[in-house]
Amino acid sequence: MTLDSPAAPSTPADTPSPRRQITIRRPDDWHIHLRDGEILRKVLPLTAMQFARGIVMPNLSPPVTTVEAALAYRARILAALPAGADFVPLMTCYLTDTTTPEEIERGFSERAWIAAKLYPAGATTNAHHGVTDLNRLAPVLERMERIGMPLLTHGESTDPTVDIFDREARFMEESLVPLLARHQGLKIVAEHVTTAEALDVVRAHAPRMGATITPHHLMINRSAMFQGGLRPHHYCLPVAKREHHRLALRKAATGGETCFFLGTDTAPHPRRAKEAACGCAGIFHGAIALQCYAQVFAEEGALDRLEAFAAFNGARFHGLAPNEGSVTLAELPADPPQPLDLGEDEIVVFREGETLPWSILR
Ligand code: NCD
Ligand code: ZN
Repeated sequence: MTLDSPAAPSTPADTPSPRRQITIRRPDDWHIHLRDGEILRKVLPLTAMQFARGIVMPNLSPPVTTVEAALAYRARILAALPAGADFVPLMTCYLTDTTTPEEIERGFSERAWIAAKLYPAGATTNAHHGVTDLNRLAPVLERMERIGMPLLTHGESTDPTVDIFDREARFMEESLVPLLARHQGLKIVAEHVTTAEALDVVRAHAPRMGATITPHHLMINRSAMFQGGLRPHHYCLPVAKREHHRLALRKAATGGETCFFLGTDTAPHPRRAKEAACGCAGIFHGAIALQCYAQVFAEEGALDRLEAFAAFNGARFHGLAPNEGSVTLAELPADPPQPLDLGEDEIVVFREGETLPWSILR
């Protein structure tokens, strides 16, 4: 990693000279939704511009529950990559009530997938095939523990009587902490953590436990959903929480603790599906996720810790070597993100209309 304040003497008069810049090892995104078909072809190049590898979520419709489905999905992703892009998709298995230990192990040993994703049934987008009873998953989790395969969790209670802002903390307390005790060797990632409570559970169980933290949960709190009216493009799951949780997340991400790593949860939905009477959950980051993280780390005075968060901690957790190559980010204002054109519709990008203070230098 190198951190500079370059003089930039040859910058043209109409482009502001960068104030700070940082070169880090090529980063990975440990939580992405690439979808399929046309949306896959549109969003994949944007992820590949920023990240060398990504853990691809399996919540397609139908979900990716078998080795064959994971291999076929990976082939479609590789076919959708622009020429010259060297992005590596790391696949996951969607756990259901009928997942078998044999299928889990087969996919892991054949390197069809590197982890399994637990969606409590109904917890989020395309989670209705998810797990209804964690106890029945015990044989699968025991096998994962034995073979060293990580469990990625969407950690929210699905009890409809639990307040939506309490669902993550309740899942931690009622489901995840007991599961951690039952499976003491199981590697677990708490995905897209949003609460101080979740951070404490992760810290208490590191290093076999880690967590991904999204750009949006570092940048917005729950009021952003109601700023002057209803803001569907700030609605995701787990839903953003109170400001004190956001501050705790910023401290965790930028504090140098190796159990926390980058995972955008970039989740594209067409505008019409978001701006609806019952709009769906998901925030899309397009090509600006890394710039958002750089802004947060700069604001926290922790630019020197961005590289570990973005390029080392997650790789170490998953037993992978860091990427070769590097990327340079500069404090250079960039044009506001534009929606992604889908022809009949479009996908709104996080921070639409805002000038971003950080850019990727190409
Ligand atoms: C994700 C999606 O749209 O697939 N939505 C979201 O709000 N994060 C699903 C998920 O990760 O929960
Ligand atoms: Zn997700």
